[in-house]
Amino acid sequence: MKNQSQYAVVGDPIGHSKSPLIHAQFARQTGQDIAYDAFAITSENFNQFVNDFFNHGGAGLNITLPHKQAAFEMASQNSPRAVLAGAVNTLYVQAGRLCGENTDGPGLVRDLSVNNDFDLAGKSILMLGAGGAARGALAELVNAAPARITLLNRTVAKAEAIRLAFRDVQEIHVSEYDNADQHESFDLIINATSLSLQGELPPVSSNWVGGQTCCYDMMYGDSDTVFVSWAKQNGAASAIDGLGMLVEQAAESFAIWQGIRPETESVIRMIREGL
Ligand code: ATR
Repeated sequence: MKNQSQYAVVGDPIGHSKSPLIHAQFARQTGQDIAYDAFAITSENFNQFVNDFFNHGGAGLNITLPHKQAAFEMASQNSPRAVLAGAVNTLYVQAGRLCGENTDGPGLVRDLSVNNDFDLAGKSILMLGAGGAARGALAELVNAAPARITLLNRTVAKAEAIRLAFRDVQEIHVSEYDNADQHESFDLIINATSLSLQGELPPVSSNWVGGQTCCYDMMYGDSDTVFVSWAKQNGAASAIDGLGMLVEQAAESFAIWQGIRPETESVIRMIREGL
């Protein structure tokens, strides 16, 4: 029998996950004796895997694509933020109940506010994309008192579904790219589309970028993403990729499980150097 607490990340595929490395750093730093593995599990086997993991004494799971919605549906107690996101990336058991949280949004907000000194209160936010990444981010951005949120998506019905899900919490202005105001500039533009993975830009307008605009790509790579390059070329005040968010969402999960918030700056630097 191992005495170590067992944690893992579950997704499909999972090969490139940096979560084991990040959590190993957090554990070393805080003196916790944990094992953190990565499992590639198909959608068909997901529920069984989660049940087995916790039934065998597992302490916590991170959930990544494509299982975040399934994890949300499985949890018997979801946080209000996870309910808004409709997705869960962190599972744990409390008082015999499977609990779900979504730390993606808090990770983004912390990377913006703490690591990049960007205060969201009173700001106008443009969110590009209306998939799971956008929805998870919005679930926490609404708590930061932004003045206005605009959501653009290729498929407007998905943006509209988010608007409806959030309507009691925050008004979200939705549109397709073609019908968006091409002249308005924003304080913060977040790329939550999956296009950076293919080295492509969503149909952005350079007019959206003013001298004070912060541009944030939820993706990252070993060099600037196309969105980060575009932001720099168009005079954004800052152009940030999603590596900090990745480490910060992990830190939020770690804090839920262990009750200790790890230091993230050195871990972000370490992961960046290894890209
Ligand atoms: P994730 O969970 O990472 O958010 P997703 O749910 O597949 O992944 O969402 C991907 C996002 O990128 C969506 O907003 C998608 O737009 P659609 O809802 O119209 O599909 C956006 N996206 C992907 N390819 C795109 C493209 N070629 N042009 C514009 N948006 C695109």
